[in-house]
Amino acid sequence: MLKFQNKIVIITGSGTGIGKAIAIKFAENGANIVILGRRKEPLEEAAKELEQVISKVKSNSFVKIFPGVDVSDEDGVSKMFEDLKKSHGAVDIVVNNAGVSGPVTCFANAPISEFKSTVGIHLTGTFWTSSQAIKTMKPGSKIVTISTFFTEERPYEQRPYRFRSPYTASQGAKNRLAEAMSWEITDKKII
Ligand SMILES: NC(=O)c1ccc[n+]([C@@H]2O[C@H](COP(=O)([O-])OP(=O)(O)OC[C@H]3O[C@@H](n4cnc5c(N)ncnc54)[C@H](OP(=O)(O)O)[C@@H]3O)[C@@H](O)[C@H]2O)c1
Repeated sequence: MLKFQNKIVIITGSGTGIGKAIAIKFAENGANIVILGRRKEPLEEAAKELEQVISKVKSNSFVKIFPGVDVSDEDGVSKMFEDLKKSHGAVDIVVNNAGVSGPVTCFANAPISEFKSTVGIHLTGTFWTSSQAIKTMKPGSKIVTISTFFTEERPYEQRPYRFRSPYTASQGAKNRLAEAMSWEITDKKII
């Protein structure tokens, strides 16, 4: 029996990059995989790779894709979780991975729309995805949130990240959000 056999894992922003790599690792370990993002093509490509992994490890797991889901759009995220609840019931693991670099410039030159969208994706997206996920989660389920070490205070290494204030602020807030949420769900035994 593979480690994550029969588990359902959702990874946000998983058609490319770190999200896709995490999805592959879970598939190698037997999980059913749900991947999502705004663009359809990368998700379809990633799904093909995941199917190959699943057939190699003979786990019989499924892959489901949710294209057109923007984690900063709460209606889209809510609908995805409703669909999943109807088709598959509870979710076991959620990985909040979706992210963008945001505007790379002195904060004084960053358009307010880009500031808001960076915060919306990293912070609001993590908040709402986690909030929807725990509605169906059982004890032992997990929420994993990807952030960055560039929020840390190390002045001689240009930290916090210089010329990426919206990104750095969103990630720092995301760290605190993850800590705060984790305290509030210990009684549910969700990690
Ligand atoms: N790479 C690094 O060195 C590094 C370092 C520290 C932290 N991180 C963090 O790690 C995470 C993944 O980074 P990565 O390097 O793998 O980035 P990436 O290759 O650019 O992948 C990001 C993925 O997120 C998706 N995405 C972006 N905005 C989204 C949204 N609003 N809703 C849903 N999906 C969205 C993108 O697909 P669509 O555009 O199709 O939506 C894409 O597939 C990010 O949170 C990033 O901040 C990365």
